[in-house]
Amino acid sequence: MKRLKMNFVFPKISRHNHTACKILGIETSCDDTGCAVVDGNRNILGESLFSQQQTHLNFGGIIPPVARDLHKEHIDHVVNETLQHAKINIQDLDAVAVTVKPGLPLSLLVGMNFAKKICQLSLKPLIPIHHMEAHALTARLTDKNLQLPFLVLLLSGGHCLLAIVKDINKFLLLGQSIDDAPGEALDKAARRLQLRNIKDYRHCSGGQAIEEAATKGDAKSIDLGTFMTNYRDCNFSFSGIKNSIRTQILKFEKQHDLKGDEIIPEIYDLCASIQYSITKHICTRVHRAMEFVDRTNLLPKCNRTLVLSGGVASNMFLRKYLNAMCDEMNYKLTVPPPSLCTDNGIMIAWNGVEKFKKQLNIYNPNDFNKIDIQSKAPLGEDISQQVSDMNIRCPSGFFNKLYGQNK
Ligand code: KG4
Ligand code: ZN
Repeated sequence: MKRLKMNFVFPKISRHNHTACKILGIETSCDDTGCAVVDGNRNILGESLFSQQQTHLNFGGIIPPVARDLHKEHIDHVVNETLQHAKINIQDLDAVAVTVKPGLPLSLLVGMNFAKKICQLSLKPLIPIHHMEAHALTARLTDKNLQLPFLVLLLSGGHCLLAIVKDINKFLLLGQSIDDAPGEALDKAARRLQLRNIKDYRHCSGGQAIEEAATKGDAKSIDLGTFMTNYRDCNFSFSGIKNSIRTQILKFEKQHDLKGDEIIPEIYDLCASIQYSITKHICTRVHRAMEFVDRTNLLPKCNRTLVLSGGVASNMFLRKYLNAMCDEMNYKLTVPPPSLCTDNGIMIAWNGVEKFKKQLNIYNPNDFNKIDIQSKAPLGEDISQQVSDMNIRCPSGFFNKLYGQNK
């Protein structure tokens, strides 16, 4: 390893190679060990993913040292399997991209240190990646007609934000959650409702379980209240709904004199109402973002797109009403396939490709000490205050009308 500390002159890569580039991406920011090789022509040459979901479901949440140990145990295999699928070796790569922010520090460190090690051994450059930027830009891999700039909504167990993607390294943050992320709220609600005790939902994530259970219930049967209606911004909040859910469960448990792990009979109606309430809150914030864009001309009048991504983007009820909102506001809704909405190595490799093509943030091994992980990292420039200052009214009647027309 000592040999690697010496300085060396890194070869300049010719312009010709940029479109044909091959980038290996590594993702370990949370509970998925992901890896992929993507080339400059949007081909996914190889991929591998080890999900820790089942372990964390058994623990009732992510325990960071457990996540770290599982990343350490699997990263070698995941990267080797990716290279095997791609039928290449490390020497054939142009660079390695790795998530360095934001995320769980113990998890991020495993990926970053592994990426540094293989780059030092093979004398390849490293591209540090912002996890949320990678999520936001994934749609450009699957939809080659997606033009910049566009609006993006990222909803998962760890993220909740609404932004304008101006360029691959320029983001304007319109709003984000001031407390929980929607997936986190759904996971907690599913746990509190003991949905795992119902056989059909045993292996589902909280959000999936609530979506499936909701199909058997009435979305308007239980009023969980409205949230942040007095705040004319694009921020989100899911702590109010969390409290309302708890209050409703306690009320029903008392009403039916339930004990231990008995399930409330209203479970399906409550799941449908939770999904409705969260969807309404999200759609109202998106509506305001679209009104803001109209007033500021931040997106071109023709060809406006809303990209939806993150684990919660799999929810078909939410998609249906975001789609209706897009139709009403003259936007196109684009959602990457589910496997690319959740955490994966492909999105990191693709972000690496986009950065490599523009020669942005490329580090040679001599400079690896300048790269470090960051548990928290804002996405781009925060313009949420500008949104509030416009004081844009978005009456709930707008969503109620969409719901009525698209039931
Ligand atoms: O993006 P992701 O795989 O991981 C991160 O959180 O970064 O998202 C996982 C989240 C979980 O909270 C899960 O409950 C939620 O996405 N989720 C869903 C659905 N499928 C997964 N939420 C609502 N409806 C679904 N169908
Ligand atoms: Zn993510």
